[in-house]
Amino acid sequence: MTLKEEQAKIQIKPSVTTNFKMAMVVLTFLITCFHLLEVVYFPDVTLVSNEILLGVVLFAIIYLWVQEVKDRRKVEVVNIELLISQEELKEANIGAMKALITGEEARDPYISGHSRRVTEYTMAIADKLNMSEEEKKHMEYAGNLHDIGKIGISDAILHKAGKLDEDEWKIIKKHPEVGVGILASLKFLPEEKILIRHHHERYDGAGYPDGRKGENIPLGSRILAVADSFDAMNSKRSYRPPLSKEKIIKELETAKGTQFDPKIVDVFLDIIKQDDSIFVK
Ligand SMILES: [Fe+2]
Repeated sequence: MTLKEEQAKIQIKPSVTTNFKMAMVVLTFLITCFHLLEVVYFPDVTLVSNEILLGVVLFAIIYLWVQEVKDRRKVEVVNIELLISQEELKEANIGAMKALITGEEARDPYISGHSRRVTEYTMAIADKLNMSEEEKKHMEYAGNLHDIGKIGISDAILHKAGKLDEDEWKIIKKHPEVGVGILASLKFLPEEKILIRHHHERYDGAGYPDGRKGENIPLGSRILAVADSFDAMNSKRSYRPPLSKEKIIKELETAKGTQFDPKIVDVFLDIIKQDDSIFVK
């Protein structure tokens, strides 16, 4: 169900209609005017006592105020319901995308579970950096969806047993932009789209698609880059076994300041050195 359909479903019915409220205001005004005229032009005649008039005016004011408070409360409740529905819709869409990616990865034993593992490493780094809950949520979604653009790449290239040629690499390098294009139909996830677009940028500016450099690369993308590469090195490929723990640590150390943000590598090295079980070999 779209957000517009959700909004149409939840109708806010005011406690009393605006016309009724206006009628009460006009009536109270007329009674007050009538009383003032009576006091000025017919001081000896008392059709409506001051007490009754005061009572009527006070009743009208209190009644209208109570209705207003009740209506505002209704609007607040509906707004909360809308936010919850929006969040559920977002989760459902992301769940569908995740299922699509999991299914795609499951077709290739060499990359099966890649996005899930990248998300786990990404979250571990985000925790160490004390990122906010909101930032971590963006990281989680971006981690799960970072390679969604590969869905548009043919199996002949994606699952090729040997090394890729130049033209095939050009196609592979399009996947961050293709991924953002796939997610464009979803009106939410603006932060995640940025993180996904830049997850193959390099710290020295030699990455793609925009050749961004250093801190100009979003922090989340710099984290994804380290997590993504670690999983690639720590996984078996058709043309090589997983790299050893020593080799992976050496590769990460060597790529500090060139491929990766040195601070992120240091944080990640702290994490993986404390957990030997993370290494396949
Ligand atoms: Fe990627």
